[in-house]
Amino acid sequence: MSSEYGQNPKLSYNKYLKVSELIKLQETLSEPTSHDELLFIVIHQTYELWFKQILHEIDATIGWLGEGRVFRANHSLKVVIEIEKILIDQIHILETMAPIGFLEFRDKLNPASGFQSMQFRELEFVSGAKDEKLLEFFADDEFSTEHLQRRFDSPSLADVFWSLIGKRGYPVGTEEERIAAIVKILEKTEKNPEIYILQDLLIEHDKNISLWRYHHVLMVERMLGSKRGTGGSEGVGYLKTTLSKRLFPEIWEARTHLEIDGIDEFDPSTLCPHVPE
Ligand code: HEM
Repeated sequence: MSSEYGQNPKLSYNKYLKVSELIKLQETLSEPTSHDELLFIVIHQTYELWFKQILHEIDATIGWLGEGRVFRANHSLKVVIEIEKILIDQIHILETMAPIGFLEFRDKLNPASGFQSMQFRELEFVSGAKDEKLLEFFADDEFSTEHLQRRFDSPSLADVFWSLIGKRGYPVGTEEERIAAIVKILEKTEKNPEIYILQDLLIEHDKNISLWRYHHVLMVERMLGSKRGTGGSEGVGYLKTTLSKRLFPEIWEARTHLEIDGIDEFDPSTLCPHVPE
């Protein structure tokens, strides 16, 4: 035990983490209280806390990449990816809710919806998927509009990534050039190891957001069938249209253009970083 133990008797676990305040933040709306409403609130609040941490890591990543500190940036992206795995899994806790139990309190939520999650939109914007139309849905929410407008106007992860690739000598002015740059990086895995790992972490981040979308839409269909969403959309039909969204489309597309024949100096030991010689 640390010798400092007990030196600051005024601080405690509960005080430091504001546990008494935290456990008062789950205010159910159903009357009489529906059993599953607490689970519904806890899950959503947990998502928002993890979104906060992810945004913190991505903001730092943007800073590191701007300074050319790829090793440090990669470390923060690994944190993002590990949190995202939890976010994908967490959806399944909600699937334990009986659809009829959800309907007990669903009407009370109207017109609130995950569609209005400011931090989820921040995550999309800061990653590179900026959609100005989404800002309109926050027009009567000054706090969210301010945050989202700032994200919209600031460089995204995709912006700093392509700027870094440009600084490393690859032309990146057009979509074709960006795809060609990634093809080059994929061809020679060990030529630019940090950059190779960086593009791998970015595609993993993109994949995780997509996986979350898939798990979310399936959970929603299991809960609601084709009922309309509380946010006013057609529900599952709308969510399915979001499944093809990509944060880094050029990194995905490069795989189409990668050919073993295109490599002039073929070196089998660099072909697959995961297979020992
Ligand atoms: C029983 C649980 C849930 C149901 C039935 C549900 C249902 C829906 C529906 C129908 C939509 C489409 C928009 C609308 O018209 O409302 C939506 C969007 C969304 N939901 Fe959920 N949801 C649930 C849980 C969650 C959870 C736990 C999160 C975590 C943050 C979440 C985040 C989102 C987000 C971010 C969107 C917008 C997606 C996009 O536009 O790309 N939802 N949800």
